[in-house]
Amino acid sequence: MKTINTFKQLIRVKKSRGHCSLCGCLSNQSPKFEYVGKRKYSSEKKSGDIEIQTKMKAWQIYQYGGNEQLTLTSTARIPKITSPSDILVKVLAASVNNIDVRMRGGYGKMALNALRRGPNLMANNSEFPLVLGRDFSGIVVETGQNVKKFKPGDEVWGALSAARQGTHAEFTVTSESEISKKPSTISHTEAASLPYVATTTWSALCTIGQLSESNTHNKRILIHGGSGGIEVTAICSTDAVDLLYSLGADVVLDYTKQDLKEELGKIKGFDVIYDTLGKRKAGYSYKYLRPWSSSKFISIVHPLLSNLDESGVPFGLLKTGVDAASYGLRTGHHYSWAIFIPNGKALSKIASMVDNGQIKPVVDKLND
Ligand SMILES: NC(=O)c1ccc[n+]([C@@H]2O[C@H](COP(=O)([O-])OP(=O)(O)OC[C@H]3O[C@@H](n4cnc5c(N)ncnc54)[C@H](OP(=O)(O)O)[C@@H]3O)[C@@H](O)[C@H]2O)c1
Repeated sequence: MKTINTFKQLIRVKKSRGHCSLCGCLSNQSPKFEYVGKRKYSSEKKSGDIEIQTKMKAWQIYQYGGNEQLTLTSTARIPKITSPSDILVKVLAASVNNIDVRMRGGYGKMALNALRRGPNLMANNSEFPLVLGRDFSGIVVETGQNVKKFKPGDEVWGALSAARQGTHAEFTVTSESEISKKPSTISHTEAASLPYVATTTWSALCTIGQLSESNTHNKRILIHGGSGGIEVTAICSTDAVDLLYSLGADVVLDYTKQDLKEELGKIKGFDVIYDTLGKRKAGYSYKYLRPWSSSKFISIVHPLLSNLDESGVPFGLLKTGVDAASYGLRTGHHYSWAIFIPNGKALSKIASMVDNGQIKPVVDKLND
C-alpha cells in the first residue's frame, strides 16, 4: 500500500475491484483510493470492514438570496464521475469571485439551469442544494476512463464551468479540458486565486483581442478596474496604485483623484481597451481607441445572463443582440464581449508564466 503524502491522513491508495472505493461510482481506473482518515464524516461500510467516505463538507445554498442562505454541511454527497473525461479532485483551496456572490443571489439561473439539464430540456431537476465556487487548487483523486493527461495524486488547478456544482466543498468533479497541472512555485492557496480571473482575461485579450507574445510590440492597452478579480490594471483607486505598479503596469491612473478624460487624452491611441466595469463606468473611454485601425473595445461585463433572467430566452437573446449592434454602431469601433470559458490549455500556459514570475497571485484575505 502506498500513501499520498499531501493528504495522508485521509486517503490511502489501494487496489480495488470494479468500482471506486472512495465514492462508489463506476470507473475502470486502478489503483483506487480508500478512506482511512480520522475525520468524522458519515461513512458507509462496504466490502467487509473497509470504511468508505461517501460524505463531505460543503457550503451549500437551498434557495437564492444573501449570505444567510449559505449552510456548511458535513453530509453532502461526494460528487461522482459521470463522464469518461471527468476527474474527481480533492479541493485543497478555493476562492470567492464576484460571480459566486452573484450566483448566490440567482444570477444566470435561467441559462445555467438550461445547461445543467443538457439535452433533456423537459427535465425539471432542481439545482438545489447548490455548491458555489469556480476556482480550485487540489489533488486528483480519481479519473474517468478516457482521461489521459492526469492521474491520481497530480496537483492540479482549474476554474469550473458555471453550470457545474462548485468548489466550496472538499471534493469537486471537473473535466480534463478544464484543468492543468498547478504551478509548482506557489502554494495551493495562492494558486486558487488565479484560474477564473486568468482564463477570463485570456478569453478577452488572447481569444477576442487576438493579442499574443509575437504581436504586442508597440501596442497600447488600457485596462479599467483591474484591481479587483481581474489581473493587471491601469485605472484603479488610491489603495491599489502601488500594487499595480509593482505588478508591472506602465501607467496607473487613480480614478478617485485624477481627471481620467484629461489623462487618457494625453496618452491617446489604445489598441485594446479591456473593460471590467461595464458601459456606465467605462463606456466613455471608447473614444481613446486608436482611430482607423483594428482597435478593439472588449468588455467582460456581459448582459446576456441578466437579460435571460429578466426577459426569458427569446427576448433576452434579442435584447443582447440589439445592445451589441447598437453599441458598435454608436461608437464606430469593434465592440466585443468576452466571457469566461474553462480552458485547460490556457491554464497550462498561465502556470508556466506564474512559475517564470510573469504573473503573481495576490491573496487579500484567507478564511479557514
Ligand atoms: N464575462 C465574464 O465571464 C466575467 C468573468 C469575470 C468577471 N466578470 C465581470 O467583471 C466585473 C468585474 O469583476 P471583478 O471580479 O473584477 O469585480 P470586483 O472584484 O468587484 O472588482 C472591481 C474593481 O473595479 C474597481 N473600480 C470600481 N470603479 C472603478 C472605476 N471607476 N475605475 C477603475 N476601477 C474601478 C474596484 O476598485 P475599488 O474597490 O478600489 O474602487 C474593484 O477593485 C463584474 O461585473 C463581473 O461580473 C465577467
